[in-house]
Amino acid sequence: MASDLRSMLTERLKRFVPGAGGSTLERGHRRARVLAIAASKGGVGKTTTAVSLAAGLAKLAGKRVLLVDLDSQAHIATAFRSVVPTDLPTISQLLLGDRTRARELMEAAYATSVDDLHLTPSDKTLNDTESLLATKIGKEFILRSAIEITRTHYDYIVFDCPPNLGNLTLNALLAADHLIVPSDLTVLSLEGVGDILQTVETIAARLGHRLNVLGVLPTRVDRRNKSLNTTMEQSLHDMFGSLVFDTEIPVGTAAPRAQLEGKTIYDFDKASKVAVAYETFVGEVLAKLNDVAVAKKKVG
Ligand SMILES: Nc1ncnc2c1ncn2[C@@H]1O[C@H](COP(=O)(O)OP(=O)(O)O)[C@@H](O)[C@H]1O
Ligand SMILES: [Mg+2]
Repeated sequence: MASDLRSMLTERLKRFVPGAGGSTLERGHRRARVLAIAASKGGVGKTTTAVSLAAGLAKLAGKRVLLVDLDSQAHIATAFRSVVPTDLPTISQLLLGDRTRARELMEAAYATSVDDLHLTPSDKTLNDTESLLATKIGKEFILRSAIEITRTHYDYIVFDCPPNLGNLTLNALLAADHLIVPSDLTVLSLEGVGDILQTVETIAARLGHRLNVLGVLPTRVDRRNKSLNTTMEQSLHDMFGSLVFDTEIPVGTAAPRAQLEGKTIYDFDKASKVAVAYETFVGEVLAKLNDVAVAKKKVG
């Protein structure tokens, strides 16, 4: 009886003891580049870009990739039409410091249908978690400490952020080395790009984290709307100059149709203009990071 009570108490106290509980993960030999895909607005192609970039890096460039869904709408698991394993620790448990469940993002990840692409899925309580984070000391740095070992096991970690500049996005920005801002060619979206770039400056000034803005990616570009688009594109270049990626993602039905079928854009229709553009974008990202594609090693 007494020993039962003692082991129960030990179990409960474990989570308060630094270094206790959770699994002990071995360090790997990689050094992931960490990319945040963020914008202050919804519907601008963040998730489509995060999935297509992560899948492209794994499938087309031979990289080992972890994609992290920070949006409570959980669109990414749907995009892969995958069922999240029920025994997986959740990202909320990790963010709220339940160290007996998980400490590192890789512990909350599972393998997708794409080789070498793992996913840390979102969970239904992520919205509440975002508010609860406000009470935590060092609340902006939780994800950063949750990738310390994880980043030694991947070549790339890609964060898909929620459509606001709240605590979850801040956590991703502080964990990331590089930021990619997707923007469609609307006034609201362009204003949003300004907002997030301002946040990047604030983070550098107040929290000492120098996040590199890798670029602004024009998305859902509709060439049929010629005069309006030319004007908006001109403004994009006037405002953000060389930060704008050379690649632009055209509007195309392959994007929503691939999502509906639970396939990556490359598996859905590799020749579609959206797939071709994302493939070019993957190349541009690699070039900006001085990285190169590697041939996939086939085992067995
Ligand atoms: N290039 C594109 N062409 C057409 N539709 C697109 C394109 N990119 C995204 N979409 C569609 O627009 C909607 C919003 O895109 P999504 O990537 O989910 O944006 P966000 O994550 O910023 O909210 C989705 O229905 C998606 O299928
Ligand atoms: Mg999204």
